[in-house]
Amino acid sequence: MAALTHDLRNSLSNAKLAAQLIERSSDPDRIKEFAGQIVASLERMDGMIQDLLDAAKFQSGERLKLRLEEFDMQELAKEVCEQFTFAHGPRFQLIAQSARVWWDREAVKRAMENLLGNALKYGTPDAPVRIKIDPVHGRVMLTVHNEGEPIPPEQIESLFQVFQRAAAAKEGNRDGWGIGLPYVRSVAESHGGSIEVDCRTAWNNFPDKHASGCKALSACPNTRGKTGVILHSRVRRKVE
Ligand SMILES: Nc1ncnc2c1ncn2[C@@H]1O[C@H](COP(=O)(O)OP(=O)(O)OP(=O)(O)O)[C@@H](O)[C@H]1O
Ligand SMILES: [Mg+2]
Repeated sequence: MAALTHDLRNSLSNAKLAAQLIERSSDPDRIKEFAGQIVASLERMDGMIQDLLDAAKFQSGERLKLRLEEFDMQELAKEVCEQFTFAHGPRFQLIAQSARVWWDREAVKRAMENLLGNALKYGTPDAPVRIKIDPVHGRVMLTVHNEGEPIPPEQIESLFQVFQRAAAAKEGNRDGWGIGLPYVRSVAESHGGSIEVDCRTAWNNFPDKHASGCKALSACPNTRGKTGVILHSRVRRKVE
């Protein structure tokens, strides 16, 4: 909550400063530039307030309103990986099979971006980030795995609560509000799936583990010092 308030006040004071500069300026080019800064600050604040309203909704257990459409999870994962590779370099390894689903593409995309963003923010710098799409027994599981310090087991459940962050993230001075994982959980549950953080399972063992039980999973570090995030959600077919 403190980080959120800080970010909001920051954008507000940037906008105020630009408005004051407009008051004192007579150069049309400078005025245009300051006006642009005000618009950018207001857009940032609008995005934050929207995120906050979403967070309040899923904190109260309300389901997301889904806009279902048919798409291929493999194609979506490719798109997100390309976007992240463009911005952060070639660290992303995608292992995916084609998996057609009837889900909310935008929501699943945002969830995937949150998980990849966390893998970058909290994982070992320059180590690979692995993304896997597995159709398993009528469900599709999305796994995001990164190397890094394991999250202490007693902190894991709280990470799904809004504004909760692991001690290491707060101490490590990494920005964040603690609404990413609650959002991902809300997306998974709204689709009839679930999410789990698994900090014990080595990357190579994930497929076996999920072939039998099929609930949903999310983030995890393991005994070999890796951190991964897994999400799986039931495939919802179009009702004919
Ligand atoms: N891949 C990961 N490795 C280690 N810790 C993680 C990982 N993903 C999440 N965490 C921990 O879980 C906490 C909650 O994650 P979440 O995405 O909800 O919030 P955030 O990243 O801190 O902020 P936000 O996503 O709102 O910008 C993080 O602060 C961090 O402590
Ligand atoms: Mg996050």
